[in-house]
Amino acid sequence: MAIGAGPRKTGGVSQTGYGAGTIARMHSALPGRVPLIVDVDTGIDDSLALLYAVASDEAELLAVTCSAGNVDARQVAENTRAVLELAGRPDLEVALGREVPLARPLETTPETHGPRGIGYAELPPARMPLSTRHSADLIIEAARARPGEITMVTLAPLTNLAVAVLREPALPRLLRRLVVMGGSYRSPGNTAPTTEWNVYVDPEAARVVFAAFGDPSLPARPLALGLDVTERAKLTPEHLERLAALAGDDAAAPKSPIIRYLVDALRFYMEFHSRYDGFYGAFIHDPLALAASLDPALVRAEALTVEVELGGTFTTGETVTDWRRVWRKAPNVDVAVEADATTFMNRFVERVARLAAARAGVAS
Ligand code: BDR
Ligand code: CA
Repeated sequence: MAIGAGPRKTGGVSQTGYGAGTIARMHSALPGRVPLIVDVDTGIDDSLALLYAVASDEAELLAVTCSAGNVDARQVAENTRAVLELAGRPDLEVALGREVPLARPLETTPETHGPRGIGYAELPPARMPLSTRHSADLIIEAARARPGEITMVTLAPLTNLAVAVLREPALPRLLRRLVVMGGSYRSPGNTAPTTEWNVYVDPEAARVVFAAFGDPSLPARPLALGLDVTERAKLTPEHLERLAALAGDDAAAPKSPIIRYLVDALRFYMEFHSRYDGFYGAFIHDPLALAASLDPALVRAEALTVEVELGGTFTTGETVTDWRRVWRKAPNVDVAVEADATTFMNRFVERVARLAAARAGVAS
């Protein structure tokens, strides 16, 4: 979206609910833009990824699906819609899916993202409607309507995508590409010693997705950004000050709605990182994955064979990676091993600042 264009109202969209086929009606192909469906568990860094997507001219954001993870799925849907309204996109379809992992009880992480998932931030209750479609149906129907065009980006446990591919096994061929924030390939975990959060919450779903999307007969492998690269995307108070200044605001006394949101949400996230990771700042995992879905040159990836551990004593949810090719199996995942964090951080600061400036005078 061109920043400054404000909320979009698209013909044919009901203001009270969405039904099947909405995406197909709302969007014809836009040359040069990347059609995206993003699955989130909003979540502070998920909310930053949504702002980045809205702020990126080359992104054609089609819809957002909500998974349980950082907070329960209903709260994720509330946060997601409130953030999209803040960003000026109340027209987007936001859907809920299965509200618990495939085979395990749900765990959430209030210590990381706050009890409601957005740190210390307060946002007005969401007014935009929740889709009447299940997330899995939305993903399948959108992919069928635009075969080979849509990039799916998952920033959450893989529950929704697993349900979708179990219902429609042709999904990997119907989507153009899959980009996953999840796993920990050559670096320690952040939830258990070898396990990253999104895979930890629903390892069975991750196993289903990696198997289905990693089928060697498919034209492209999924791109996975694990902690190996996402922990290089470190947002510091200096980044936030620069972002606020570029938006014509002041991080110490923010006035515009987006800057106020960022300051309050990130204060919580930075305090968390200061307690658990030894620095006052924040890893912004999800925005890096979103950015890489728009510009794959931000990362360098290696084709590898990855299996998700389901029966470990201490390692359930580990993304076991065959670095030495001892299994001699065809690779099923492109694992990001390097990231251009400086380019990404500059882009993040500039784009979100432009969006914040454009939305500064708009009541939220
Ligand atoms: C992932 O876990 C969540 O807490 C973040 O939103 C991110 O998607 C990082 O491990
Ligand atoms: Ca997330």
